[in-house]
Amino acid sequence: MSNYHIKNLEEYYQIYRKSTRDPENFWSEVAEEHFLWRRKWDQVLQWDFEKPEVKWFEGAKLNITENCIDRHLLTKGDKTAILWEPNDPAEDAQHISYQELYQRVNRFANVLKSKGIKMGDRVCIYLPMIPELAISVLACARIGAIHSVVFAGFSSTALSTRINDASCKMVITSDGSYRGSKTIDLKGIVDEALEKCECVESVLVAKRINSDIDMKEGRDHWLQPLLDKADDQCQPEVMDAEDPLFILYTSGSTGTPKGMLHTCGGYMVYTAYTFKNIFQYKDQEVYWCTADIGWITGHSYIVYGPLANGATTLMFEGVPSYPDFGRFWEIVEKHKVNQFYTAPTAIRALAKEKLDYVNKYDLSSLKVLGTVGEPINEEAWHWYNDNVGKGQAPIVDTWWQTETGGIMISPIPYATPTIPTYATLPLPGVQLALMDEKGEEIKGNLVSGRLCVKFPWPSMARTIWGNHERYRDTYFSAFKGKYFTGDGAMRDAVGYYRITGRVDDVVIVSGHNLGTAPIEDAINEHPAVAESAIVGFPHEVKGNALYGFIILKEVGETRDRANLRKEINQQITEHIGPIAKLDKIQFVPGLPKTRSGKIMRRILRKIASDDTSNLGDISTLLNPEVVRQIMDEKID
Ligand code: WT7
Repeated sequence: MSNYHIKNLEEYYQIYRKSTRDPENFWSEVAEEHFLWRRKWDQVLQWDFEKPEVKWFEGAKLNITENCIDRHLLTKGDKTAILWEPNDPAEDAQHISYQELYQRVNRFANVLKSKGIKMGDRVCIYLPMIPELAISVLACARIGAIHSVVFAGFSSTALSTRINDASCKMVITSDGSYRGSKTIDLKGIVDEALEKCECVESVLVAKRINSDIDMKEGRDHWLQPLLDKADDQCQPEVMDAEDPLFILYTSGSTGTPKGMLHTCGGYMVYTAYTFKNIFQYKDQEVYWCTADIGWITGHSYIVYGPLANGATTLMFEGVPSYPDFGRFWEIVEKHKVNQFYTAPTAIRALAKEKLDYVNKYDLSSLKVLGTVGEPINEEAWHWYNDNVGKGQAPIVDTWWQTETGGIMISPIPYATPTIPTYATLPLPGVQLALMDEKGEEIKGNLVSGRLCVKFPWPSMARTIWGNHERYRDTYFSAFKGKYFTGDGAMRDAVGYYRITGRVDDVVIVSGHNLGTAPIEDAINEHPAVAESAIVGFPHEVKGNALYGFIILKEVGETRDRANLRKEINQQITEHIGPIAKLDKIQFVPGLPKTRSGKIMRRILRKIASDDTSNLGDISTLLNPEVVRQIMDEKID
């Protein structure tokens, strides 16, 4: 029996037990058999959750791009590595073979070097979903530069904060991007961001929309002429297993985003292992994850996991609604996609449209369907199962986080029986615990609590860039000796997990993890705003939407409320991006607070969700009378 490829439920349980009895032996077997190491490790695992410190495969040497590209050249040189589908169906798809990917990554790596980028330098990548995005990520990894991809839908303020936090030396962007029928001026956003960034020495600009843009002399360089001149050979930098691979920002409960740092060895082993098992990928198949590479899903399951397995990974530039709502299914038919991985919010949006959009296409190639990002509701699950998978393709509801690097809880398709809304079972090597509010582990089944992980896994983030203390406080202080996920979960009678949602101040809107604090910070900068509190409430398509309770500065403020609402959302768009706009804004006379001054979001959440039957004891509040006032003026 191979530990690497799980084929049925019995095997899953056997492998799972083995992985928890002796995790070091388990992961060293996986790592040994399936990857290319320049030097083997001295020690499989060293850990201490108090510090916290976690090291996997210490002493080992490798380069992840050698594993993702070079070692496939002999056997799969002509196989398509990246299958790129453009925004506009009239434009041709690109089939980039492993051989071509090798050359393009090497060329790009040489360009980085020629601009002074060395091992350990940080490079910010702000690109649309064009091949250069995946290629630049790999080029950084090739020379040991730390990539920090920022989602190209983020605003210039969000971009500059991230560039400065990691002191990036370079930004890679494009003249613009296509998004459905619109174009976006990415370079303009970069220029604005860079007014606030002194660390950036050079900007590489890919051409995508052929727009007329400003190029700053000495700083900005068109990418293509540099690539044309560059050599297509570039020796991979030999990295330590624990050297940084990338930083990826995720929101937290304060305004500053958290730069999660992932390292080379463990991340590679875990993302490759989970990709293989969760998508049951076989040679010749075409795998498609619809996420953007700007999120962890794209890092782990468009780029690194699939390529480490020699897979064909489809990368889509566009949106599900352009030119019409059949676009996803048209692509599935056109490229005979076998595994399809998307987000519940996309499923819900498509489920609102006519079934003709789905039924027009031949989807019989589909063997595995996946979801990620938020709990999938039962209705969306059934729609996906019945209309896309035709009841023939198991749905893997995969639970994980930017911090975990790879999927932690998921069915193994064709092995684990699936139940709607259940992420089901932990992957081998993942040891979960449910904790009660007193900090005790809740044993047994049919229980719920706060979801923790009690043993390290190879792809966990090692720190928050530049702030190890925050890393410890956020993840390792709530429950002694355990990693706390921030989510609540329940375990059913047979040990399946169902994620119930965040228990902290993070709201998942359309699959985007949004911290309420940075949004409040943005709103509070508006001159008319005194204070604000943002909560999530259930939304048919987005899963959750944002509700803002806002106190205005002057009592009896006479400015037009509709204008104010617009300005506030504009402010949010500028600071964070349009995804964080508020659906509802209620101007309130006060916010319910505890005596220590903490806003009682729990009560606001209930009001926003029209669930006020049980508000709990509000008499202990500083200002209980305000609750009734807010309820009376609630916006529907
Ligand atoms: C949070 C992490 C991991 C890639 C996308 C999001 C929620 C994620 C599920 C799921 C229920 C889920 C959790 C988690 N989440 N997947 N299958 N079922 N909830 O990454 O932005 O780091 O967000 O997304 O609340 O903590 P992220």
